[in-house]
Amino acid sequence: MSGLLAGKRLLVTGVITDASIAFSVAKIAQENGAQVVLTGYGRLSLVERIARRLPQPAPIIELDVTSPEHLAGLADRVREHVDGLDGVVHSIGFAPQSCLGGGFLDASWEDVATALHVSTYSYKSLAMAALPLMSPGGAVVGLTFDATKAWPVYDWMGVAKAGLESASRYLALHLGKQGIRSNLVAAGPLRTMAAKSIPGFEQFEQAWTERAPLGWSLTNQEPAARACLALMSDWFPATTGEIVHVDGGYHALGS
Ligand SMILES: NC(=O)c1ccc[n+]([C@@H]2O[C@H](COP(=O)([O-])OP(=O)(O)OC[C@H]3O[C@@H](n4cnc5c(N)ncnc54)[C@H](O)[C@@H]3O)[C@@H](O)[C@H]2O)c1
Repeated sequence: MSGLLAGKRLLVTGVITDASIAFSVAKIAQENGAQVVLTGYGRLSLVERIARRLPQPAPIIELDVTSPEHLAGLADRVREHVDGLDGVVHSIGFAPQSCLGGGFLDASWEDVATALHVSTYSYKSLAMAALPLMSPGGAVVGLTFDATKAWPVYDWMGVAKAGLESASRYLALHLGKQGIRSNLVAAGPLRTMAAKSIPGFEQFEQAWTERAPLGWSLTNQEPAARACLALMSDWFPATTGEIVHVDGGYHALGS
C-alpha cells in the first residue's frame, strides 16, 4: 500500500458518529496506507455501525479513558490486531453541562474534576497505556481548541484544554528520550456531537464563518484530520510539543 502513512499502525480513539474528527482521521489514514485500530466508548454498537462506513474494516476495542482496568488491558487488546503502534490519536473530550455555557462561576469541583479527568489527564493515561507498543519515531496527537484565550461559553472546557496543551508539552519532554513525539492540532469549530453539547456554540460558528481569513467550513473535518495524520507521518520527525492551528487562520487575528 502506498501513501503518506504506508505501513503505519495507528490507534484512533474518539469515533462516535461519522462527523467525529476521529472518523475523518481513520478514513483518511486508511486511504493513505495506514492500518487502523479504533477504540470506542460507551455505545459500542453505534461505533461498530459507524466503523462500517470506513473504506476498510477496523477492529474496535472498548476504552473508557477513566477506567484503570481498560487502560491496563489496552496494550494486550491492541496486540491482538497489530504488533506495534506508530501513532496514537487522542480525540476525546467531555465536560458536564454545568461546566459549559456560562456556568464557570458555579460549576462544582466534582464536575470540573470529571472534565479534567476525561479531557486532560487522559492524554497522558492513553499515551502511557499505548507506550509498550511504541518505538522511536512514534507519535501521539491530540485535539485542542485554542486555550490561550477565554472564550464565551467554553468555560471549564477551556481550562481543560489549557491543561491538555501543557500536558502535551510535558509528554513531549518526558517521552522525547524514547524518540516519541507529542503534538496537538488546534481545530476551529466543527459540528460534532461534542460541539453540539455546548450551549451557545453557534457564537463560535458565526465568528469563524465571518472572520477566518481563509474562510471556514463547520462541517469539513478533513483539514483537522489531515493535520493529525501529517504530524504522525515521517514528515515532522523533529517536531514535538507543538500546536498546529487548523482554524482558517482565525488565531492570527486581533480582536
Ligand atoms: N468539534 C469542535 O469544534 C472541536 C474543535 C476543537 C477541538 N475539538 C476536540 O476534538 C476532539 C474530538 O471531538 P469531536 O469534536 O470529534 O466530537 P465527538 O463527540 O465526535 O468526539 C468526542 C469523543 O470523546 C469520546 N469520549 C467521551 N468520554 C470518553 C471517555 N471517558 N473515554 C473514552 N472516550 C470518551 C466520545 O465517545 C466521542 O467519541 C475533542 O478533544 C474535542 O474537544 C473539537
